[in-house]
Amino acid sequence: MLNPDLTLYQKKKIKINIKNLDPRQFIREIRLIRKNILYSKLPKDFCIYEEDLFKTTYHFGLFVENELVSVLTMIKKKSKYYRNFPAYQLRGMATKFHFQNKKLGQKLILYSILTILKTTKTSVIWCNARINISNFYTKNNFQAKGRTFYIKNIGLHKCMFFDSRLFLKET
Ligand SMILES: CC(C)(COP(=O)(O)OP(=O)(O)OC[C@H]1O[C@@H](n2cnc3c(N)ncnc32)[C@H](O)[C@@H]1OP(=O)(O)O)[C@@H](O)C(=O)NCCC(=O)NCCS
Repeated sequence: MLNPDLTLYQKKKIKINIKNLDPRQFIREIRLIRKNILYSKLPKDFCIYEEDLFKTTYHFGLFVENELVSVLTMIKKKSKYYRNFPAYQLRGMATKFHFQNKKLGQKLILYSILTILKTTKTSVIWCNARINISNFYTKNNFQAKGRTFYIKNIGLHKCMFFDSRLFLKET
């Protein structure tokens, strides 16, 4: 059954759009969302990733009407657990407070993963998931690997992986 919030979006004919964001146009807005949602009590530098403007980096965003409400970034980076596989690291997953728990993050992550798998030679997508959010990734077909670890100023994390072979078999 559809989530009631999404049904509401559909009933009201509210337009939902997902885009590959050009950082020349959107990087300030992406960083502002990261700052407010992910790093609100931390210095501004935290919302700037050194790979943000790399050619191999992708930024994805979900719009409700014309407002950018959910973002994530995919950075070409191998994982220590799968050193021999080309990989992308998912970072900066954030949905604005007012729009959380409406399945928007889920739509965005699925779209972004499929785009990365289609357009790059990537077999592994991974992230350092905040421990209190790991359920969100599990629900989106990620699996945890290794020990829980601490990232300074942020908290406990788990390394989580999206198994593309499994997923591609299902679609
Ligand atoms: C995590 C986050 C991006 C999820 O975005 P969202 O748009 O609210 O997610 P969705 O509504 O698509 O959720 C999909 C599923 O994940 C689960 N989920 C969502 N947020 C969750 C959270 N904070 N903790 C645990 N599970 C969560 C939902 O329950 C939902 O499952 P359901 O199908 O049973 O309802 C959003 O809550 C957020 O921005 N949080 C703060 C920033 C953050 O911690 N980012 C992750 C850093 S690793």
